Amino acid sequence: MKTIAVFTSGGDSPGMNACIRAVVRTGLHHGLQVYGIMHGYQGMIEDQFKLLTSDDVGNIIQRGGTILKSSRSKDFLTKEGRQKAFDNLKKHGIEGVIAIGGDGTFAGAKVFMKEHSIPFIGLPGTIDNDLIGTDYTIGYDTALNNVIEAVDKIKDTAASHDRLFFVEVMGKDAGFIALRSGIGVGAAAILIPEVHTDLEELIANLAAAYKRKKTSSIIIVAEGDDAGGAYKIAEQVVKALPKYDTRISILGHQQRGGSPSALDRMLASQLGYEAVNSLLAGKHSVMVGIVNKQVCYTSFDRAIKHHDTVNPDFLKLAEILAA
Ligand code: F6P
Repeated sequence: MKTIAVFTSGGDSPGMNACIRAVVRTGLHHGLQVYGIMHGYQGMIEDQFKLLTSDDVGNIIQRGGTILKSSRSKDFLTKEGRQKAFDNLKKHGIEGVIAIGGDGTFAGAKVFMKEHSIPFIGLPGTIDNDLIGTDYTIGYDTALNNVIEAVDKIKDTAASHDRLFFVEVMGKDAGFIALRSGIGVGAAAILIPEVHTDLEELIANLAAAYKRKKTSSIIIVAEGDDAGGAYKIAEQVVKALPKYDTRISILGHQQRGGSPSALDRMLASQLGYEAVNSLLAGKHSVMVGIVNKQVCYTSFDRAIKHHDTVNPDFLKLAEILAA
């Protein structure tokens, strides 16, 4: 193998740059040429390839976002789009590809590999932490810290005004950000897609808290919760408990930005390094992750189909500590 490529795809996550840097420098160490593909699968289709030097990835380890940019490509969902992508990979002599992204990225790689014969290795880059085959995804830890920092500030004003706040965090299919950040900020309740939200129970708990003169609380809502987002849930609560002074805060994309944490930089560096070594060892169609401090390979099939499950101990812990 002489030439490989790396790209980032789907929602960007802090640590992607550290990962690109690790891929490029490990590749160069092995005497490979490393192309960066801009804008994910879309750039693969539109021939946006750039040969990367060691200097190109200098001074980026601390930067959030992705220097290679990202996209959610609709064209790659078509056979014609994938054919164009393959033609471009061939044109540049690429013999192996490293895809940094989430389940959508690996689903794309899986379909592509059924039609074409270039090996892909996946790396888990998403703030959602919703992939099986790795304890943490690149960007999750930073996103958690972002949420905690923002909610700590909200708590100052919430306490000063005796207010109830509904804070919506990212996670359209998964509650991992909500669960850990909720525990981290001492939320009164954490509402996640994996667990049915019983609004009557929530209202009863809040009514009891009000009786105990606990008038300021934080409820963390994952955007994909089955009872709706923060606005919808708050509307029901306000109707039932008008005496609460209620506010809503949607944290949005600030969760995905900023300089990666120490943990994300380390994870991204290790995974980028392992991905190149895996390609050279002849592996393909697997996501590389770290489970219990060990490098672990999970087929795209398994990584895509099996979202990780929420830890029931954490749910219990959150409930007891919120009392
Ligand atoms: O997949 C990562 C993620 O940040 C989700 O948590 C969120 O629902 C989604 O991306 C938002 O995507 P976009 O930036 O395309 O609106």
